[in-house]
Amino acid sequence: MTTLAGVRWGSATAAYQIEGAVSRGGRVPTIWDAFTAQPGSTTRGDTGAQACRAYDNPETVLDAIDWLDLETYRFSIAWSRIITGPDGRTNPEGIAYYRGILEELRERDVTPTVTLYHWDLPQWLQDRGGWTDLATTEAFVHFARVAAREFGDLVNDWITVNEPFCAAFHGHLSGLHAPGIRHEPTALRAALVQLHTHGEAVRALRAINPDFRIGLAMNLSDLAPATEDPGDLEALKRADLVENRLFLHTVLQGRLPEDTAAYFGAGAVSAAVEGIDVSRIAEPLDFIGINYYEQNVVRAAEPGTDAIVRGIEKLPVAEPRSANGVAVRPDGFTRVLLRVAALAPDLPIWVTENGIGLWDYVGPDGRCNDIERVAFLEQYLDALGDAIAGGARIESYYFWALMDNFEWAHGYQLRYGLFYTDYPTGRIMPKASAERYRVHIAAERADLVEIDRRDGAAA
Ligand code: GCO
Repeated sequence: MTTLAGVRWGSATAAYQIEGAVSRGGRVPTIWDAFTAQPGSTTRGDTGAQACRAYDNPETVLDAIDWLDLETYRFSIAWSRIITGPDGRTNPEGIAYYRGILEELRERDVTPTVTLYHWDLPQWLQDRGGWTDLATTEAFVHFARVAAREFGDLVNDWITVNEPFCAAFHGHLSGLHAPGIRHEPTALRAALVQLHTHGEAVRALRAINPDFRIGLAMNLSDLAPATEDPGDLEALKRADLVENRLFLHTVLQGRLPEDTAAYFGAGAVSAAVEGIDVSRIAEPLDFIGINYYEQNVVRAAEPGTDAIVRGIEKLPVAEPRSANGVAVRPDGFTRVLLRVAALAPDLPIWVTENGIGLWDYVGPDGRCNDIERVAFLEQYLDALGDAIAGGARIESYYFWALMDNFEWAHGYQLRYGLFYTDYPTGRIMPKASAERYRVHIAAERADLVEIDRRDGAAA
């Protein structure tokens, strides 16, 4: 395997997925509280009301971090625990909670990466138009400033928004995510307002501390055409526009891909950019966060079956695949990373998420032997090495997720964790994959010590 030296090893979570305590500690309701209250929105009606109880037991999370000996931990700060409403007032209990975690991380020498928006929009903002309204941008910039002021002595690395594609298109077109809207022009507007908000937040954070490292996390998919027929190639281009280029190119280049108006319609595009200077979205970044999960083969189909991209169909995913039908294709991971590297050769890449959903279980021996995730981890780390060998500047890798948690519309059935969460008790235990990742991290760190020693001896 190529050397992975220089990569920081981490794992990730998000507030609504692990915290619980949704009506305590001064937290205000979010769109996910409202969405999960609607019957049929999640598997078995699961909600994040309790989740992994990380609000009450942050030490569970910290123990997992210790056990793995992570160098960095990515988590999100819930807007709804920090800002209480339209007057912008702050909630001291929420601030104290996150400061507690950050102080513990500092004590352990674990570098935090803080996500500011991981899909948990306060409901009071949704009631005023949510991600279609530029007032949300203003509210977010206020939140970002408060976060920088309250936590900036303990946090240097920030992610503005997480997966704006999902929040826009699952939240406002497929309806699979909160707020559960199904309307394409609204989804496009939500995408642009989030990207605009990202750019404004980068500038606001930088003004507070020019040394902050700031990026965003976007999920990109690896796509291939079913055949070389012009129709299938067109289908590929449409899927790539909606799933990748609309976000990646706009953030890096400050202009919409040239086929945006042809696909969405000129009217929808001018409504989507109203009040937004698209060129300012491409504020220079310190890193670009890539969440990688998906690979799909697409073909042209009228009317098509994809819930988001018109006129296409995604072919059934062959084995190996995850429990929820996502292709296990490490070569797709390498391709996506190299694509980003080709587009922005000097920009460090942080893999801010990578993982696999499985129906994990505890066997009669009391252990969770998730051999598919162990294999996944080994293959994807090799693929990461291939991307580095190909010239990608990979600085960090975060496995999704540290522990099983509330997996959005999938509720608690689908598990992504390195640690198995026993929801009735809130206890967690390392799966076989956690042991594998721990060995990997230890080996990589030992290597670094070895290299240091050699360099030291040579000097
Ligand atoms: C994401 C989400 C995670 C999901 C993960 C698995 O950013 O996609 O951050 O919250 O749990 O992607 O679906």
